[in-house]
Amino acid sequence: MGTILIKNGLLVDTEWIRREDILIVDEKISRIAKKINPNTLDPETEIIDAEGMCVMPGFIDAHTHYGLVSRGTVTADKFEEGSKCAAYGGCTTVIDFADQIKGKTLFESAEARINEMKDRMAVDYALHQGVYGSIPDNIETQLDELSTEGINIIKIFTTYKNVGYLIEKKKDLERLFKAATERKMLITAHCEDNDIIEKTEKNWKGDFSAKSHADLRSDDAEAKAITFLGEIALKCSAPLYIVHLSSAKGLEAVRDLREKGAQIFVETTPTYLYKNKSLLERKDAALFVMTPPLRTADDNETLQTALEDGEIQVIATDHCAFTIKQKLDTAADCRKTYPGVPGTSEMFSAVHTFGLAHGGWLKIQQMVNLMSTSPAKLFGLYPRKGCLHIGSDADIVIFNPEEEWKPADSIVSASGYTMFFDDVFVGKVKKTYLRGTLIMGDGFYLGIPGDGKLITEGESVAFKYPS
Ligand code: URP
Ligand code: ZN
Ligand code: ZN
Repeated sequence: MGTILIKNGLLVDTEWIRREDILIVDEKISRIAKKINPNTLDPETEIIDAEGMCVMPGFIDAHTHYGLVSRGTVTADKFEEGSKCAAYGGCTTVIDFADQIKGKTLFESAEARINEMKDRMAVDYALHQGVYGSIPDNIETQLDELSTEGINIIKIFTTYKNVGYLIEKKKDLERLFKAATERKMLITAHCEDNDIIEKTEKNWKGDFSAKSHADLRSDDAEAKAITFLGEIALKCSAPLYIVHLSSAKGLEAVRDLREKGAQIFVETTPTYLYKNKSLLERKDAALFVMTPPLRTADDNETLQTALEDGEIQVIATDHCAFTIKQKLDTAADCRKTYPGVPGTSEMFSAVHTFGLAHGGWLKIQQMVNLMSTSPAKLFGLYPRKGCLHIGSDADIVIFNPEEEWKPADSIVSASGYTMFFDDVFVGKVKKTYLRGTLIMGDGFYLGIPGDGKLITEGESVAFKYPS
């Protein structure tokens, strides 16, 4: 910390883009001006020349599963490793998940997760709180308690009945949507219809290799679940945030709901945008198994266009990284392969490469919006996070838009692999500052476990646009 002057960079905020200097004092952005004269500043000021670089607000990976304990194992990237991935990727805040713990209230469940994270996270973090199975009788009181503690995002599933995540009763869902909305708490949902998946599996004549994964969890299942939850949201006048949209059919369902007046926010990931199920034909296909599964190249294209057109509000990664060994050891049956892939360290560069540098139509300001401003606004972190405003946290990324690099040559995730194993990226994060402290500089990681803070969530912008 102290005073840092970043000079000559191209400052990119969602709302403006200017070649200006930016001054950081301790944890905050203090001044932005055409030329800031260092002679007028504290003599100890550190001066960084950002000529040729983009200077952007810290990115937010709004969907991570660091240190996820599930199916009798734990992910490779725990809180320390996940934080490292975040720092390399320019992500100064991640939004992770707290499972609902049996026998504990929602607040106690969140508190347990925070206690696990607080001495181990080196970037800032917020939480989505899971609500699973049947809704507690005193859900309203439990939501009040959670909200008072600054957790205003709820996560639900329309699948994973086998592990108790599915909320089966429509009545329960309606009660949850109503109660959450009355408290201006945003519901986020993993959408895959459990019945379709169970029926498909029952009638399945093929094998259970990774190649079958996309058909076992079809795009119809995604679309049906979106429609089902969207109708409930509509009935309850509640906004709904769909996590990791993977398919064109899913997007069609979103469009139909929006036509009817539903307020649906959509997140997708770099993998659903730029990778497809041809990866599931490889020998090491288990590495690419996640839910929902990878779809077709046509789905990629549809999502890319939807992104350019503003139909998708957030890019996050769903980072849920298992080691190559964990993946390959469970490869025989794709239903048992640990689901999930790494992503945080590559999020911005992947989108910059395929969405802009290689002739895509995205603009850099749009990218800042999708990976910083928009999640900050939706999850109540704005304007503390998500913008280059005076008084905002000095979460700053210095990015070289020209540098070419191979993600395969600099894997950060403890998984030991990357989804972008044969790609050359254009654009690299060179420095990441978390509240004025350098946590990654020129390839060196400087993050300190415990320096990451829990960021409480305020009101979501979703409630500013009543449906
Ligand atoms: O396969 C995935 N995506 N694993 C993480 C958990 C989830 O469903 O998002
Ligand atoms: Zn999910
Ligand atoms: Zn997830």
